[in-house]
Amino acid sequence: GLQIEAAAEYYLDDAFYDELAKTHILSVSNQYILFESSYMSRPIQMEEMIFAIGEAGYKPMLAHPERYRYIKDPQKEYARLKELGVFFQVNLNSFGGHYGKGAKRLAHFLNEAGMIDFLGSDTHHNRQVEMLSDVFCLDVYHDIFKRNMIKNDMLL
Ligand SMILES: [Fe+2]
Repeated sequence: GLQIEAAAEYYLDDAFYDELAKTHILSVSNQYILFESSYMSRPIQMEEMIFAIGEAGYKPMLAHPERYRYIKDPQKEYARLKELGVFFQVNLNSFGGHYGKGAKRLAHFLNEAGMIDFLGSDTHHNRQVEMLSDVFCLDVYHDIFKRNMIKNDMLL
């Protein structure tokens, strides 16, 4: 009984502007553009690209903000992205430590700061589905909904 819709996660690089100019860009619920960047280095034009998403009539949604290793000052860097109107989609498996200690620490930071907008599974294989059921048993899973305005159901 599940209804499944396809969208895409766009990688911020030089080709991104061409993708954004296409009329068939794959948005989430016709509202959000889900994007990601390199894990290691912040794109020089990141702010311009975020602005371009808004200019194109969409809201920017950053995939797994907890996984970027270039985030050194989370308070400052995440607050700046929020100022730019970026919505954050955190991977649930980050809370279980699936992506390492750094991602887990930043996922907890985002939870405690009330900065999470959407939760994602980022499922690439069945093992990650099994790991999700462990995350549902963690105390933090329930805490997320107390501290954050989770908007997943607004996409329906
Ligand atoms: Fe990704």
